[in-house]
Amino acid sequence: MRTRTQVGIVGGGPAGLLLSHLLALRGIDSVLIEIRSREYCEARQRAGVLEDGSVALLHEAGLADRLDQQGLIHGGIYLQFEGQRRHLDFRDLAGRTVTVYAQTEVVKDLIARRLADRGALEFSVTDTTVAELDTDRPVLRYTDAAGTRHEITCDAIAGCDGFHGICRPAIPRGVLTTWERDYPYAWLGILADVPPSTDELIYAHHENGFALHSLRSPLVSRLYLQVSPDEDIGAWPDERIWAELARRFGLPGWTLQRGPIVDKSITPMRSFVCAPMRYGRLFLAGDAAHIVPPTGAKGLNLALADVAVLAPALDALLHGDEKPAATYSDTCLQRVWRSTHFSWWMTTMLHRTPGADEMEMQLQLSQLRYVVGSRAAATSLAENYTGFPIA
Ligand code: FAD
Ligand code: PHB
Repeated sequence: MRTRTQVGIVGGGPAGLLLSHLLALRGIDSVLIEIRSREYCEARQRAGVLEDGSVALLHEAGLADRLDQQGLIHGGIYLQFEGQRRHLDFRDLAGRTVTVYAQTEVVKDLIARRLADRGALEFSVTDTTVAELDTDRPVLRYTDAAGTRHEITCDAIAGCDGFHGICRPAIPRGVLTTWERDYPYAWLGILADVPPSTDELIYAHHENGFALHSLRSPLVSRLYLQVSPDEDIGAWPDERIWAELARRFGLPGWTLQRGPIVDKSITPMRSFVCAPMRYGRLFLAGDAAHIVPPTGAKGLNLALADVAVLAPALDALLHGDEKPAATYSDTCLQRVWRSTHFSWWMTTMLHRTPGADEMEMQLQLSQLRYVVGSRAAATSLAENYTGFPIA
């Protein structure tokens, strides 16, 4: 079946969904296609921390009703090392906060809004391809859940299909420069039906490896353990996970509450950036163009920030003004590289490299002592963690 739209959007994660909504607010038609089912997208456990700039963006887009009711404003984090837990006060240091509100909830809010506004969303598609990218009429092809093949002629295509999507590989060889770093560790993440044992997130440095205590609500905790990238999740029964978490967060007089584990997964850690985030009429956004290790809580925020820049750029392009589209990539990459550096810095300060010598540990501990002991160093962390205003 042949149809037409203004913007074809590949991927129904936070980047693609928010872009379709921001374009609709500007009166621009789009068709969004997603390889997974709606249920899968709404249940996939991922990020939990929104920067102030992301919260403001969702407010301005009229998407913050549930976020306002259920989001938990956090004014800092704890850094734990050498048997002490030290608080960093973001309000005092940077005048900003972050909000704990799960990516699953952001995605649910976006899907509900797009469907209420009669937006064109297609879940469970297969065989997505993009073509004619160096013309003014790029083409998006896919097969819908009922088996019908579609060909949509667009004015532009947004590749919001994550790191493993098809859009970035559709760009001819030699156009993109890429930078990549794999880390020799992964995160084992759990979701547990138990009230958090902390009021704010704890980032723990430990000789057995990094651990993070996050949360989803006053009744649900989210916790992570550094493990090996080739770790077998079957080797981690619930009892072993709780025992290792208790060891890495252990402090006299403090107890880690345990409860039923309802989700368990292992995530590899990678830094990746490609430039430019555009080829002809194909624009990449979010994880399709860049990946950060989750230690800095930046990936979701970067995805939202990209499309906040892309929506007005596409609006201008469709009205004959090429300039904002021409600067889209450079504008986004400024923020992307800041977050890439910050995420790498947090990651390497807090994780144990397998086989590393004793010097790594001493350098990390010195850095951690400096961060909690120097207002200048603490402010730098606070400024980066809470994020910079979205252009
Ligand atoms: P995605 O969410 O990956 O969405 C891409 C979509 O495209 C997917 O739905 C996929 O199914 C779809 N797709 C793929 N291929 C095709 C195709 N061929 N056709 C159609 N659709 C396709 N970030 C933070 O900011 N804060 C955090 O606290 C944080 N914690 C994290 C914890 C973990 C364990 C993980 C894994 C990530 C975390 N992140 C965090 C990162 C964040 O989740 C991602 O950066 C974010 O999901 C990026 O959004 P996106 O829309 O660009 O990509
Ligand atoms: C999460 O809640 O999932 C989370 C929080 C902070 C991070 C990473 C993940 O740095």
